[in-house]
Amino acid sequence: MERPAIRIVPGGPMLVDGLPLGRLEHDGDDWRLDPVTEAGSSYAICRCGTSSAMPLCDRPAPYRCFDEEPPTGAIPAPYRWDVPDPAGPPALGLKPNGPVRVVGDVAITYAGEPVETRDRISLCRCGESRCQPLCDSSHKVVGYRG
Ligand code: FES
Repeated sequence: MERPAIRIVPGGPMLVDGLPLGRLEHDGDDWRLDPVTEAGSSYAICRCGTSSAMPLCDRPAPYRCFDEEPPTGAIPAPYRWDVPDPAGPPALGLKPNGPVRVVGDVAITYAGEPVETRDRISLCRCGESRCQPLCDSSHKVVGYRG
């Protein structure tokens, strides 16, 4: 089976291949993933917060959704957050009003360059992080909704 992949386009969406997308919802003290797409599907997730088809991007290539500044902030430490099944298959979870959380072995590139692989990673989808493509919690400052 081919390794799932996310290609992040500067100023555009994240292009996902081979990964199911779900919404992270509280389930008591745990999280569960409510499916948004089917396993193995390909789609583009909005990274600017202005799409009319949220959480997906509504523009065709070459996108040009927003002016993306080069990263200036410190790289955040790996987040420790609970996932529905850390040992389960790779998956993507939309955090309400926050980033996309990636679980498992996924090949991630940003502007064609590999992003360091971690067991868990949070990718910005509000467009405001100072350490793109990673989330630095700026979504809380700007009051991102999505
Ligand atoms: S989603 Fe953009 S900084 Fe967290």
